[in-house]
Amino acid sequence: MTAQDFILKSYNTNIEKGTVKWSSPSNIALVKYWGKKEHQIPENPSISFTLSNCKTITELTYTKKEGNDFSFDVYFEGKMNEAFKPKIQTFFERIEQYMPFLRDYHFKIDTENTFPHSSGIASSASGMSALALCLMSVEEELGGDYSNDYFNKKASFLARLGSGSACRSIEGELVVWGANESTESSDLFGIPFDGQVHENFKNYQDTILLVDKGEKQVSSTVGHKLMYGHPFAQLRFSQAHDNLAKLKTVLASGDLETFVKIVESEALTLHAMMMTSMPYFILMKPNTLDIINRIWKYREEHKSNVCFTLDAGANVHLLYPESEQTAIHEFIETDLAKYCQNEHFIHDFAGKGAQLIKN
Ligand code: PMV
Repeated sequence: MTAQDFILKSYNTNIEKGTVKWSSPSNIALVKYWGKKEHQIPENPSISFTLSNCKTITELTYTKKEGNDFSFDVYFEGKMNEAFKPKIQTFFERIEQYMPFLRDYHFKIDTENTFPHSSGIASSASGMSALALCLMSVEEELGGDYSNDYFNKKASFLARLGSGSACRSIEGELVVWGANESTESSDLFGIPFDGQVHENFKNYQDTILLVDKGEKQVSSTVGHKLMYGHPFAQLRFSQAHDNLAKLKTVLASGDLETFVKIVESEALTLHAMMMTSMPYFILMKPNTLDIINRIWKYREEHKSNVCFTLDAGANVHLLYPESEQTAIHEFIETDLAKYCQNEHFIHDFAGKGAQLIKN
C-alpha cells in the first residue's frame, strides 16, 4: 500500500454532527524506534507489546461549521487544555490531505488517561492513536465503508503522523512497524506481528516502575533529530534489523534467555545513542541503575527470566512471563518499590489494542 491509498476521495457533506469515543493503549518497544526521516518515516523497524491498563480514552464531538480554518477545543480530564493544542494543530495539518473534511467541522476533543498525569509515562502513543481512531470513526460516519483491515491500517497510518510510536497502539499483542526483511510490515503503519508466538510470550507482564515522574528531559522530536549525523547511526539502524530477525525466531521458539538479552541490549543501546550524540544526554537516574542491578542479581539468584526495558526516560519497564507473576510482584514490593518516586509502580500486561466505546 502507498500513502495514496489513504486519501479520502469523496464523502457525505450532509452530516451535521455526531460523537464517537475510543480507548487506546500505550505500548512498549522491544526493538526501539530511534531516528526518523521526513514525514515520520522510521529509520529502522521496531516491534512492541501493546499494553492494557495504560490507556487514553477520547471522546470526539464534531459539529458542522462555516469557514475554512481548523477549529477544535481540547479538554483534558474535564478541563479545557491549551497546552495540547499546538501538537493537535500540527497533527491536523499533517493528516488533512488524507481527511479533507477536517476543515468542515468544529471538534471537541475530550480526553483522559487511565495512568496518572505527570507519571513520566508518555501519553503521545495512546493519545494520538485514540484521536486517530476517533477521526476514522467520523470518516466512517461520513460514508467510508471500510474493512476492519483498512480501518486499522489507516488509523495506524494517521496515528504515525501524530507520534511515530502511536502507530503501534491500534492492535495487539505484538505490533511491528517499519519495512524489514523478517515481516510483512511497512514504514507507513504498524501491523500485528505475523510470526509464530510461543506460549511463553502470551499475556506477557509489564510493570512500570516510576523512577521519575517529571517532564521528559529530551522530547522525542529533539531525540530523533540526534540521530542525524550521529557517528553510530547506520550501525544502529542495521542492528535493529538484525535484532528484529533474531526476535522473530525467539518469539517462535519461546527462548526466554535470548529474549532477555535482545530486549535489555536494545534498551541500553537506545540510551547509548543519547549518551553519544551531540548534544549528549543521560536520561537514566541513579535509581534506574540501582533497579537494573537488582534485576540482574535477582535473575541470577532465582533463575528468573525477568528483564528490563527503558523508554527515553528514567522509568523502568519490568518485563516477565505470566508464570512468574506472583514471585515478581513480591520482588517489586519488597525490593524495587523503594527506588520508585513515592514507591509508585503500575502493573500492566500485553493487550489486544484499542477499543471502540461509542459510535
Ligand atoms: O513516538 P515517539 O516519536 O515519541 O518516539 C518514541 C521512541 C521510543 O519510545 C524511545 C522508542 C519506541 O520505539 O517506542
